[in-house]
Amino acid sequence: MLSIVILGTGTIAKHLAGAISKIKEVRLAQIVGRNQEHLQWFSNLAPIIADFSKIADADVYLIAVKDDAIVEVSDYLSNKKGIVAHVSGATPMDSLSMENRGVFYPLQSFTEGRPLDFKTIPFCIEANWEASAKTLKTLAGRLSDNIYDIDSQQRKKLHLAAMYVSNFSNYLYGVGENLCLEEGLSFDLLKPLILETAEKVQTMSPKEAQTGPARRGDMKTMQAHLELLNDEKQKEIYALFSEAIKKVYEEKL
Ligand SMILES: NC(=O)c1ccc[n+]([C@@H]2O[C@H](COP(=O)([O-])OP(=O)(O)OC[C@H]3O[C@@H](n4cnc5c(N)ncnc54)[C@H](OP(=O)(O)O)[C@@H]3O)[C@@H](O)[C@H]2O)c1
Repeated sequence: MLSIVILGTGTIAKHLAGAISKIKEVRLAQIVGRNQEHLQWFSNLAPIIADFSKIADADVYLIAVKDDAIVEVSDYLSNKKGIVAHVSGATPMDSLSMENRGVFYPLQSFTEGRPLDFKTIPFCIEANWEASAKTLKTLAGRLSDNIYDIDSQQRKKLHLAAMYVSNFSNYLYGVGENLCLEEGLSFDLLKPLILETAEKVQTMSPKEAQTGPARRGDMKTMQAHLELLNDEKQKEIYALFSEAIKKVYEEKL
């Protein structure tokens, strides 16, 4: 039976611990965190400890702390024999110094208290040793149907791509919400459009799916939109986006 230690008590640690604790063939051996209060959340799932010098022996150590703390936390695992893997999209595997190292990156936006269907989440796996990659894939395969070999260079780009499609889109939802509120309108009015925009790229390319004045080259509409914006930064963003969209379709001609 595969034994797992999770280091970290934040959002992803909670999601991973919850999902891993349900797998029969895997034993959640320990949750390690620096904050006793945050550790309590895990007390029904596995033994918890706040002392990093008392980490249990395990087959896999999943480092689920903020990116800037991964190296510091990995130092406590330098004498362990098991696979030490972080779960970060943006951190190279080789930021870990032990021989038996890897990456166990679930490509999804995890939010505290919001359940996710793990089966659909792409798991991006990398390891220094072939046998360790196999073990990490076995673990990922118990959680998800989507397992990929992705190296650090590819993952860097993938993580950047994820910023665009998720973080930046979500920021733009906020801009849309504020514009609605300025007119006393509910953000709910935009929700069917948000869903359709996300749904159509499941079966079409983003290039095919694009609509709007910038694609059509409707200059008057774009000018009117710019005049409606009070914030200089938003005017700049609108102009940059419109220019970028226009360019995609000009290239086609
Ligand atoms: N959230 C996502 O959608 C997502 C998706 C894929 C991958 N990831 C990756 O998952 C990792 C954790 O992200 P998260 O979203 O779970 O972050 P989070 O909710 O902010 O949790 C961060 C965790 O790091 C711990 N921590 C910070 N500095 C530490 C230190 N010096 N020593 C020990 N522990 C420390 C925090 O401990 P305290 O509670 O004591 O402050 C907390 O448990 C990151 O590598 C991130 O890139 C996140």
